[in-house]
Amino acid sequence: VVRRRSLQELQHAWHRLGTEDPMWAVLTDPDKRGNRWDPDEFLATGRAQVDELLAQLAAQGIAVRSGSALDFGCGLGRLTQGLAPHFDEVHGVDISPSMIDGAREADRDGRCEFHLNMADDLALFSSGRFDLVLSLYVIQHVPRRLAAGYLTDMARVLAPGGVLVVQVFVRRAGALGPARQALWNLAVNARQALTRRPAMQMHAWSVVRLTGLLERAGLEVVARQHVAGPWEQVTYTAIKP
Ligand SMILES: C[S@@+](CC[C@H](N)C(=O)[O-])C[C@H]1O[C@@H](n2cnc3c(N)ncnc32)[C@H](O)[C@@H]1O
Repeated sequence: VVRRRSLQELQHAWHRLGTEDPMWAVLTDPDKRGNRWDPDEFLATGRAQVDELLAQLAAQGIAVRSGSALDFGCGLGRLTQGLAPHFDEVHGVDISPSMIDGAREADRDGRCEFHLNMADDLALFSSGRFDLVLSLYVIQHVPRRLAAGYLTDMARVLAPGGVLVVQVFVRRAGALGPARQALWNLAVNARQALTRRPAMQMHAWSVVRLTGLLERAGLEVVARQHVAGPWEQVTYTAIKP
């Protein structure tokens, strides 16, 4: 029941965010608030980010086959479109109907396939069908219990030799990390209740816990890239043997 409620809340919030100011909801640059992103500039960020990511993997000696890629939490397809030139087929999956509508509309070449998924898993995809699963700026918004299920399923849908690249928030060491996160979510929930503006919740992991989860799901964690900031980010690279 708890799981279903948090799924519905997530979907409701992201449907609203995707209706009101979708590009800003994806990339929360304060200068772009109020529908001030230029669509071409917005999409160019996705191409640049994917090109850089694939170059980094190659430089680390991690070979990614060019068959099929999945973008989990694809939003408007910013990264899905960036993946398209590099793979035979690319799929984006998202919980938000408005985001998926926007993604389909923005994909002028029709190279990407977008899926609306309101389930707490990736049962819509068969096992072992993707060479790359990418997820940036998504898991940070998903309650950990739900996120754990998706992450385990990302491992399942990867083909042997497939690569997972997933970015998460991690907890600061010490007591302040969890307290800060709890306060943030209290504040966004209260604001949502008062103003009826959708909440963008934040959920952080411990590095040890996420590493353990990915290993139990059958993946080998090969790199962890930290970016410090108000919320510390870690991008995990893991391979399915
Ligand atoms: C900040 S946006 C990032 C979009 C995209 N990854 C990018 O970087 O352009 C977060 C996206 O995650 C989606 N999302 C949130 N919870 C999800 C879930 N449980 N399953 C799939 N997508 C989800 C939201 O609807 C939203 O489109």
